[in-house]
Amino acid sequence: MCGIVGYIGKQKASAIILEGLKRLEYRGYDSAGIAIQQGGRFEVAKKAGRVEGLMKGTPALKITGTTGIGHTRWATHGGVTDANAHPHLSSDGRIALIHNGVIENYAGIKKFLLTKGYTFQSETDTEVLCNLIAYHYQKEPAAQGESRFLEAVRKTLRHVDGTYGIAVMCGDCPAEIVSARKGSPLILGVGDGELMLASDVAAIISRTQNVVYLKDGEVLHMTAQNFSISTLDSEDVSPVVDKITWKIEDSELNGHAHFMEKEIFEQPAALENTMRGRFSEDGSTAQFGGLNISAVDLRQTDRLHFLACGSAWHACLVTEHLIERFARVPVEVDYASEFRYRNMPLGNSTLFFTVSQSGETIDTLAAMREARRKGYKVLAINNVVGSSIAREADGGIYQHVGPEIGVASTKAFTSQLLVGALLALYLGRMRDMNFSDGVEYVQALKGVPDLVRRTLELAPAIKEIAKRYAHYHDFLFLGRLSLFPVALEGALKLKEISYIHAEGYPAAEMKHGPIALISEQCPSVFFVPSGEMFNKVVSSMQEIKARKGKIIAIATAHCELPAGLADEVIRIPECHEAVLPIVATVPVQLLSYYIAVELKRDVDKPRNLAKSVTVE
Ligand code: AGP
Repeated sequence: MCGIVGYIGKQKASAIILEGLKRLEYRGYDSAGIAIQQGGRFEVAKKAGRVEGLMKGTPALKITGTTGIGHTRWATHGGVTDANAHPHLSSDGRIALIHNGVIENYAGIKKFLLTKGYTFQSETDTEVLCNLIAYHYQKEPAAQGESRFLEAVRKTLRHVDGTYGIAVMCGDCPAEIVSARKGSPLILGVGDGELMLASDVAAIISRTQNVVYLKDGEVLHMTAQNFSISTLDSEDVSPVVDKITWKIEDSELNGHAHFMEKEIFEQPAALENTMRGRFSEDGSTAQFGGLNISAVDLRQTDRLHFLACGSAWHACLVTEHLIERFARVPVEVDYASEFRYRNMPLGNSTLFFTVSQSGETIDTLAAMREARRKGYKVLAINNVVGSSIAREADGGIYQHVGPEIGVASTKAFTSQLLVGALLALYLGRMRDMNFSDGVEYVQALKGVPDLVRRTLELAPAIKEIAKRYAHYHDFLFLGRLSLFPVALEGALKLKEISYIHAEGYPAAEMKHGPIALISEQCPSVFFVPSGEMFNKVVSSMQEIKARKGKIIAIATAHCELPAGLADEVIRIPECHEAVLPIVATVPVQLLSYYIAVELKRDVDKPRNLAKSVTVE
């Protein structure tokens, strides 16, 4: 999950590339670097640390030249050092390269190149790729017509295993960039007399809305005048120019302290967008434009199988509850990374879904490919138009919540819950859910933005609770049924942005072991819904209280908690069971955010993480 930017045009490339890298830093921020063409050689500025450091300390911004590449790194091979930062130069100085992905057969290639006299300054697989391009370039006769440089890149890529999104420059070709992708996203921005290349549109949107999404196996050749796309076997590809729908301010802080704060508070509007146009005329069911599967085929489906990672996997667990509750269709949920290798027995009438905010998570992409290899239809629920998963799926549902920049998923997660609730309604009304229940369900979904808005009003009180609990080192998050996955999500939020150890469990499960953790030093966050589970959850709370465990209760308005049972009570509105997971998520988003702020963590770019995991 690194960030890649390239530029060819009339402007000074260094400033444009660095600005683009800053917009991609959420993809990886261990180190940053740029390389600019300087008439047959390269001016390179690179170092460990953030793009900011590159802009302040080194002469990066002073580098002139109108063709260049830049990179922000999330370390895979080799530690976080200046030497391992990209761009890398070949040992003969002719080739400069940046890379997102993992070259799996780099060790054997490195051994071969060493016998050919190539030397290495870093521990990275990327430098091996760079020297291999240089090797083929110096071996390649001046190709007739085709660029010798382009052919050397193609030949190299035919010899590597693994994943890559690369941008390459050759000192002999001053106004050219060659780029290629296999498993790591790359987008071309077609501007006015300039071309931009980036890992995602956030780096391009400020200069153009005209984009071409590169596909796996394609090679892009950019020159000062034009661009062309071909395959590794030199077959021409006709480019399709799309228009980006969102605006630059969607990827700016707009006065918020962090993107995570902005994205938590824009959930009411974001969830409106997720629902827009997705209710039937008669108001009794949902409708989707891009499922690409007939009602008859959906009716024949006797099992759904969801594949995802991280928060998206938690969203699938909630969706499982809702579909089984309201549509009576059995649902299986798998970690995408596990499904690929489980080789489990599958039925013939199973429909697969992937859930992925970025649409680039390599484990989810690979799991989708595995399901499709077995002959199954896969529909994608995701948030990025034109993403790899969106383009390879048989159909799907876009979340339409705009770019999510904070590494910790917030609006994308609640949007996935809302799509899951819409899907449960749609399938339920194709089966046993009657008209009036459907109308009631639709009204509940339409009320979600207001319920979230009212819950966000609890922010000041939750901020005070966060201050009182920020010093603890361990937390349990406990919920039942559709709130158990929300407990998992709350634990993940706290872990990933505050670095505090937290675990989520079904509330009743904690007495089978985790209760051993309970002491005055290990608070528990309980989700307490009114209704059939209330007494059971209260019993679990009392077991914690009996062991001096502190309790933060996230309870719906009508719950009458025994006096003194909870140390903190966060009251959320009563609501339809299909939307309760969405409403219950907001307080744990706020709690983890305010604790992380209290601990002065880097909320939007937590250590060791990146927004989109495009390496296995
Ligand atoms: C969520 O807060 C995490 N940043 C992470 O678990 C994320 O949900 C996971 O990597 C899946 O990402 P995706 O939705 O883009 O596939």
